[in-house]
This record gives sequence, structure tokens and C-alpha cells, in this order.
Amino acid sequence: MAGIKKKTAFFCQECGYEAAKWMGQCPACKAWNTMVEEPVRMSPVKSAGGQRGISSGASGFSLGGNNRSAVPVSLSSVRDAEETRFSTGMGELDRVLGGGAVAGSLVLVGGDPGIGKSTILLQTSCYMAKSGINVLYISGEESLRQIKLRAVRIGGAPDSLRFLCETNLAVIADIVMRDKPQAVVIDSIQTMYSEDVASAPGSVSQVRETTAVLLRLAKEMGITFFIVGHVTKEGTVAGPRVLEHMVDTVLYFEGDRYASYRILRGVKNRFGSTNEIGIFEMRTEGLVEVLNPSEYMLSGRPLGASGSVVTCSMEGTRPVLTEVQALIVETNFGYPRRQSTGTDSNRVSLLMAVLEKRLNIPLSRYDAYINLAGGIRQTEPALDLGIVLAILSGFKNRAVPDDLIVFGEVGLSGEVRSVSMAENRVLEAAKLGFHSCILPASNASGIKTVPEGMKLIPIRGIGQLSDYLSSC
Ligand code: TYD
Ligand code: MG
Repeated sequence: MAGIKKKTAFFCQECGYEAAKWMGQCPACKAWNTMVEEPVRMSPVKSAGGQRGISSGASGFSLGGNNRSAVPVSLSSVRDAEETRFSTGMGELDRVLGGGAVAGSLVLVGGDPGIGKSTILLQTSCYMAKSGINVLYISGEESLRQIKLRAVRIGGAPDSLRFLCETNLAVIADIVMRDKPQAVVIDSIQTMYSEDVASAPGSVSQVRETTAVLLRLAKEMGITFFIVGHVTKEGTVAGPRVLEHMVDTVLYFEGDRYASYRILRGVKNRFGSTNEIGIFEMRTEGLVEVLNPSEYMLSGRPLGASGSVVTCSMEGTRPVLTEVQALIVETNFGYPRRQSTGTDSNRVSLLMAVLEKRLNIPLSRYDAYINLAGGIRQTEPALDLGIVLAILSGFKNRAVPDDLIVFGEVGLSGEVRSVSMAENRVLEAAKLGFHSCILPASNASGIKTVPEGMKLIPIRGIGQLSDYLSSC
């Protein structure tokens, strides 16, 4: 009797939470109005190998899971073939994947519609096909003509790259098993459907079932799948969060769709770190990698302006220089406004409270607008000192030298604390033509080789920062 399921259930389209009755708010992710009734498959759940709740063995095509005898083994008997990686042809994408794509892995690329998911996957498909990898690009969203138009924009696709417009999962699975490509792009998972599930494409049960089948194909045949998942606001189709636990790697494509930069951020990665980001620029000829993000982030920086300070945060293993801007104006109302863009606003409030208490600066009578220019959201504590100096500079209306860079963490007593990888930050600053660097004293002693032309200014507390500003 085990495994016979109810006829319908209610699923949260945001996070996939399942409930027996309708609810206005999802108890799991607290989103409102996202519960939708969906039919649940009637057939008993077969105890096929694979993950809990995955029943793709019942999908009408044999993947060899049910008639194979399952034997537990010890790890020493497992062939220690190293994970095989191959390059996607885009350095920034390879970096976020942890050094290239892993054979047999499932990579989910999420992001808002129109951000560039299809473009990046078409570009890497072209690169991979050119380097001799057998790639199949499956689209359920665009016609072959539309894909061709896009391919022309990005410089043409090689003949070895094969395209397929299909949404029926059984057909796709047959073709994949027959052609045995090394990499498959699925654009997008919300358009794919399995005939075994009664609900519409894009619903939670469809999206989960199709991903489960692709997962088994990936693991059993060693094929790398790149799956597009749209982030949806209205909750009419299931978002990529529903799938996060099933796939190996989750990458989100971020950025303002009206600005040209795009950031690819790893959210989950079974084969690498999730700290790394990839930075791209959307041009008319497709996405172009931004190889020197610091230069890009600092372009258009005002020189000699008060309230503008350059600081440095680490994005994974890469130091990125960013400009912090602070606008401090007397408040017109009893309650001062605090607004910060690109960083954690609670952290900014805390730093302002530290300034008020430790340096007696009457910030509670001023509105403060803090902006991390460049468009990458950064929250590393090493930015603290930059934010503090920008606020001081904005408040006193005194500009800091243009060739100054500042980094360090600020504690609640106004002490300046050390941060990691100080040497890398100083080197990056020197490379971009900065000549002085304010940093925590505890870090300064650890720096062995100070780059030529760079003057280190070690400090222990934010009081010294204020003295420095008075001497500018
Ligand atoms: P697209 O990859 O279709 O987005 P998604 O698949 O995430 O929905 O990206 C579409 C946007 O990118 C569209 O607004 C046009 C723009 N674009 C360019 O600016 N240059 C290009 O070369 C291409 C192909 C698209
Ligand atoms: Mg698309």
C-alpha cells in the first residue's frame, strides 16, 4: 500500500512546499499567494535507485535503474578517477564553476527574464563545440530562427553544434540517450514537461519530475547539463529555488537589466567554492568577460570630490576595488533618513552609531545616503573603514586624495581590526595606480613586500582616520 498518493496537493510555487490544503501564506518561505493546487501522480512510487522522492523510473523510458541489482560497496573499491572537467571557453564562467564544468553534473543557471541566460549558454555552447565537445542545445522557448538570429549576433555557431526545439521530456531523453552528447543545454526547465505528470509545464511537480529525469541522465551517462531556470515574481511558474536542492551547482545571473554589467554568482557548488563571481558586460555582440573588474568598477569616479573613497573587498580570491560614496545632509524632519545601496544598511547604521559615540559626530541630525558605486553588492567587513571615511569626508566636506585606498574592519569601540588577504589588496591597489593605503596596523606588520611607490598608513582606531582627514 505504501506509496499511493493523494489526488491533488497544494504546492508553493516559490519554494516547492507541499500542503494538503490551501493557505494564503506559505509556512516555509513566508511568501503570500503562492500556493497552487496541482495534481499529484497517482501511480505508486517505485523504489528505483536515486534520490528520495525521485521516481523517474516510471517515466516510460528505462534508464536501467529498476532491473539493476543494488549492491552497497566500500569507497576503496571505487575507481578514483579524478573528476573530469572541461573548459566552457569563458574564463569567468569556468571560475564560478570552480575551474571548468564537471562531467556528469547538473548546473542550474537562474535569473530574471531578459538578463542574458540564453545568451551566455549559447556562447559557451559555441565555444565548447569549437573545441571539439559534442554539445546539444535544446530550446523550448525560442524557434530555430530566433536562435539563429541570436547566434548571428554573437558571431555565428559552428556546424558541429546541434540544436533542437522540443519540450517533451521523453523525446529529449531518447535523443540524448541515442546521441550521447557530452554537454546539453536545456532552455528552460519551466517549458519542459513529462507526460507522466498531469499538471501544466512550469508547475512545481513538472519542474521537479523533469529535473529528476535529467539528473539521472546526467549521473548515469556522465553528461553535463546546463539548465535555465527563470526567476518569477508572480508565482505562476515554479522558480529555480524549487530545484536548488536537486542540482549540483546553482548559479544566479544578476545585474540591472538596463545597465550593461552582469554578475554570475555561485549559490551552491558541489565541486567548488561559492565565493567566486564572474563579471560580464552585455554588448551588442553578446556577453564579454570583464577581466579587470576593479578598473571597470572605478570608471567614471569623480576626482577631488568629498564623500568619495576607494576601498577594496575580496570577491572569492579576487580583490575588487570599489568606490564608496556618502552624501550627508542636514535633516529637515525630526527623523533622519538612512539609505544605502549596494551594501548592508544595518552595517552602515552601526558604523554611523560608532562614529557618533566614539568621535562625537552629531550624525543623528543628518540624513545619510551611502552608495557602493559599480553595481556589485558587497558586504565584506573590510569595507567598514571605507564607509567610515566616506561618511567623515562627506560630513566635513573635505576630499581625500584621489590616490588613496582604505580597507579594514571597524569594531564597536571604534578600533580598527585586521582583515584577510591584506597583501593581495595592497598589490591590486598598486597595480591600479594608488599611492597610499590606510589599513589596520595589525595587517601592516604582516606585509612583507610593499609595492614600489606605495605608502602604507597603519591605524589602530577611527580617531586616527579623523586626524588624517584634517591633515588632507
Ligand atoms: P537573453 O539571453 O534572451 O535573456 P534570458 O534568456 O535570460 O531571458 O538576453 C536578452 C537580452 O540581452 C535582450 O534584452 C537583448 C540583450 N542582448 C544584447 O544586448 N546583445 C546581444 O548580443 C544579445 C544576444 C542579447
Ligand atoms: Mg532565454
